[in-house]
Amino acid sequence: MPVFINEENLQFHLQGKELSYVFNVMKNGQLGQLYFGKKIRNRSDFSHLSKKEARVASSYVFEDDPTFSLDLIKQEYPGYGTSDYREPAFQIEHPDGSRISNFTYQSYELVKGKPRLSGLPATYVEDESEADTIVIHLHDSSMNLSLSLMYSVYHERNVMIRSAAFTNEGSRDHVIKRAHSASIDFPDADFSMMQLSGSWSRERHVHERRLSPGVQSIQSTRGTSSAQHNPFLALKRPMTTEYAGEVYGFSFVYSGNFQAQVEVDHYETARVTMGINPFDFSWVLRSGETFQTPEVVMAYSEHGLNHLSQTYHDLYRSRLARGKWRDAERPVLLNNWEATYFDFDEEKLLSIAKQAKETGVELFVLDDGWFGKRNDDRSSLGDWFVDSTKLPKGLPSLASKMNDLGLMFGLWFEPEMVSEESELYKKHPEWVIQVPGRSKSIGRHQLVLDFSNPKVVDTIYEQMATILKEANIDYVKWDMNRYMTEIGSLSLLKSQQAEVPHRYILGVYALYERLIEAFPHVLFESCASGGARFDPGMLYYAPQAWTSDDTDAVERLSIQYGTSMVYPISSMGAHVSAVPNHQVKRVTSLETRANVAYFGAFGYELDVTKMSDAELTTMTEQINWYKENRALLQYGTFYRLISPFDGKGNVTSWMSVSADRKKAIVGYYQVLAEPNPSFKRLYVKGLDPEKEYEVSGYEGTYYGDELMSAGIQLPGEYDGSQTGGLEESGDFSSYVFVISEHNDRGEAI
Ligand code: DGJ
Repeated sequence: MPVFINEENLQFHLQGKELSYVFNVMKNGQLGQLYFGKKIRNRSDFSHLSKKEARVASSYVFEDDPTFSLDLIKQEYPGYGTSDYREPAFQIEHPDGSRISNFTYQSYELVKGKPRLSGLPATYVEDESEADTIVIHLHDSSMNLSLSLMYSVYHERNVMIRSAAFTNEGSRDHVIKRAHSASIDFPDADFSMMQLSGSWSRERHVHERRLSPGVQSIQSTRGTSSAQHNPFLALKRPMTTEYAGEVYGFSFVYSGNFQAQVEVDHYETARVTMGINPFDFSWVLRSGETFQTPEVVMAYSEHGLNHLSQTYHDLYRSRLARGKWRDAERPVLLNNWEATYFDFDEEKLLSIAKQAKETGVELFVLDDGWFGKRNDDRSSLGDWFVDSTKLPKGLPSLASKMNDLGLMFGLWFEPEMVSEESELYKKHPEWVIQVPGRSKSIGRHQLVLDFSNPKVVDTIYEQMATILKEANIDYVKWDMNRYMTEIGSLSLLKSQQAEVPHRYILGVYALYERLIEAFPHVLFESCASGGARFDPGMLYYAPQAWTSDDTDAVERLSIQYGTSMVYPISSMGAHVSAVPNHQVKRVTSLETRANVAYFGAFGYELDVTKMSDAELTTMTEQINWYKENRALLQYGTFYRLISPFDGKGNVTSWMSVSADRKKAIVGYYQVLAEPNPSFKRLYVKGLDPEKEYEVSGYEGTYYGDELMSAGIQLPGEYDGSQTGGLEESGDFSSYVFVISEHNDRGEAI
């Protein structure tokens, strides 16, 4: 029984596979936090876990109990203004102008499985027996508002999923100023906070800092989850490593402005809050209406970071991603962006496609530039009809020619944007995000459509649906290339202007949902100037995302490594591009570029017609090899072995292991060659210690325990001769090897 409810003390104990989460109703009727961590036994009373003492200079709630100061108590969803001075989980402005709320316990509801969140992305169950949900109903009687806190626990996973919903049961409007999805107080602050931060072209680099007094916070104010900070943070114990020690993860299933923070108070406790960014946000809650927050997936691992990541990978790829492509092997694609940019016509595309097909590519993706009059990035967004100068025979004809070549066909859209030079903008200048009387800042020469207005969403849906109906399109790359400025909507009331960023994201979700429903066969890949909206919210609609515009093999090591903290390998678009690389001008070998991109949803993004015969042969071999191994690469269990963020960052290594542990693929990458190097051993993970394996490129056999504990000595990059060493030695060298179970017949199986 994974949910224990003590009716007498009003204590709730939820157990996941290896975690426990305990909270209670306190004597003021609000919720107190008792414990979150490694699974503990249930007992009849946990009140000792909230032992309090009076402290000088505290404010307290009851005259006769100076120990009951909310500043001293661990809570579940705290408010401000009633003796707790830390940052609250929520704040509501009431019709009388006051900002004090008092939500007290009314009842609980036990739900089998996990309810969906209307209009929002969320993890789900396929069978009700997978999870239990407990909803705690609280009420502020003087304001006639109710608050429901939802907690879901999967029995075979190490996650606790939380969200909150406010309902106005009265007759007057209230204004929500802050509505985080989850808040939790830890009894100590002996943690490091890990975050995934960066910018365009260097997204999701791993950063860590020791917690110290005050608020440490990451956020987005840009209208998307952003390349600057991913909606994720982890709290690690100081000694925690990839494979040992405690770590807590907090991942927000949302694609807009968020805030994630840890506040360390004067008693060295740590309060984690996560939710929609309260900065520049408010929401008018009208009579009878409910405001539902997105959800936070809290995860726990006592076996280090890698285990935490595996928990997220498994949940997100099987119970967040949806549809036909969720479990399907993802096609090897060729995208024409870096091959042609805007300069193409049908003949050019078909010549690339033909050559690509010969190497084994399965899907041709036509990127930006096929619509309106788009010859550069200054025009035509919003005019989603084919450019008949470039493609006079139209998209249906191009798609069927691609199909005749034996290729699937995919198309790029940027549905949320409009160019000033476009028919749509000329007709509907009122449909962009704007503040009357203020000039509009520009990003990439474009404006952001007002997706908080359902009419705009309907129009874009109709345009996209027309294209998707008339041509045989199997894949859509949904791009989004600028952040919001001068945020306001001409379709909303004055009092609702601070609702725009959230309503915008709800509009994006609504459009995705309609398209997915109408075109269930389409594989969606999300994108935002590369990886500026690589978040769990997007994965609910698009099972893969363009990881970064930076396709340089060396840069990708850090980007893909950081991304793997939360996101499954099957979700990371990873392409081999031309050299010198278009982002950093670095020249790396075709082998190394592929060796990095293999650990992702693999493809190419270059002009194959310009490749030499030798390169085309290599490309063909790469694709054949990837196809043979892609189920394992995309859906295997992923282990990080050596971090590009540790030490000099010269070496990175990772691997994927099949579910039956019969096969594993290891990637080892070295940025700069070392003179007279030491004898390097690599200690792999996740194998069956009892199994006998063969390792590609090595003689003999090895047992799993040997490979994991004694390691394997890597071939030297330079052995003093001209001929020895790694095949691909020198700077930017890499090495991918396969470990396969050895059968009695002396063959690898
Ligand atoms: C930004 C994307 O990240 C690129 O892959 C490409 O699609 C361009 N936009 C096209 O404008």
